[in-house]
Amino acid sequence: MAETVRWGILGTGKISRAFANALKDVPGAVLAAVGSRSPDKAAAFAEEFGALASYGSCELLAQAEGIDLIYIGTPHPEHAGNALMALRAGKGVLCEKPFTMNLREAEQVVTLARSKRLFLMEAMWTRYLPAYLEVKRILASGEIGTPRQVVADFGFAAAFGPEHRVFNPDLGGGALLDLGIYPLSVAAGLLGPVLEVRAQAQMGPTGVDVQTGFTLKHEGGAMSVCSCSFLARSPAELTVSGERGQVRMNTMFHRATSVTVKLEDGSERTIETPYLGNGYVHEAIEAQRCWRQGLLESPSMTQDETLALMGVMDEIRRQIGLRYAADRA
Ligand SMILES: NC(=O)c1ccc[n+]([C@@H]2O[C@H](COP(=O)([O-])OP(=O)(O)OC[C@H]3O[C@@H](n4cnc5c(N)ncnc54)[C@H](OP(=O)(O)O)[C@@H]3O)[C@@H](O)[C@H]2O)c1
Repeated sequence: MAETVRWGILGTGKISRAFANALKDVPGAVLAAVGSRSPDKAAAFAEEFGALASYGSCELLAQAEGIDLIYIGTPHPEHAGNALMALRAGKGVLCEKPFTMNLREAEQVVTLARSKRLFLMEAMWTRYLPAYLEVKRILASGEIGTPRQVVADFGFAAAFGPEHRVFNPDLGGGALLDLGIYPLSVAAGLLGPVLEVRAQAQMGPTGVDVQTGFTLKHEGGAMSVCSCSFLARSPAELTVSGERGQVRMNTMFHRATSVTVKLEDGSERTIETPYLGNGYVHEAIEAQRCWRQGLLESPSMTQDETLALMGVMDEIRRQIGLRYAADRA
């Protein structure tokens, strides 16, 4: 029996609920506690998901005994403050994407985790899915030749009001931080570090980007063409191409359950790559594996990579003219 890992979940919204459900399928995971701004919401969440304790603030959850790792499922502008609080209290952290609002905040969080020698990982769940690992395997096999290009998009029509977190600048609204991080992170994971980026965006009535397109030049010369949108239901596919063919993470690529390889000889095959539970299981398994082994980060999504990608997002925002309160701090 694997050593038990005791989780605290911070936030009681959509993704925290998905993560709590995921933990039910993670061997050795115990939902030790939940934290919310509201004691009542925390208690209701604990009751529904069987958490052993509930706390009415981030601070109380961070300080609580009997928690190994805290999962942060709050809106983006809260991530840095929440992570710092958890780390100061000696807890390991798995923090939702985007990791923070900007590189400056990300550096603060990473610096503290490193100085306290505590586990810290960005919850970029797509990096841990079987489909992504299968694409990595196919690229390494040389089957499609040298990977030269990624084309990736992620878009849907967001039917929310201006106050919702996806449009509200005070809650980190905007397509880039919410959706664009997926094509960016997966493209960089497959083609390597980003050397240069060029971006354009359409801004919406609340002053945040409602769709953004960007191209990336990767170390070694490969290129990516990426987009994200809150206006258009796009295919949400990711294709990597080399001189001999292509491999595609099928619709919706960020949660792909199959991968299709097409080669220059006209052959085509699809490999089924189902994920466990609701998919978030894999990132939790990885966090637990790292934590049990005393690793301070996940080798599949290192802190240096998280920092580099936050830097790319800062540069995209500079190019499209998108600033948040966190940038003025
Ligand atoms: N990996 C994925 O697939 C995925 C999917 C969706 C979202 N996310 C990420 O997860 C984060 C949360 O997204 P969500 O869709 O779960 O949002 P949500 O449904 O609005 O939930 C966020 C929760 O955070 C807590 N919170 C703390 N400070 C808050 C504040 N100032 N305003 C509002 N809520 C606050 C609230 O819980 P209490 O009221 O209990 O404090 C709220 O329920 C975002 O960073 C997003 O990018 C990831």
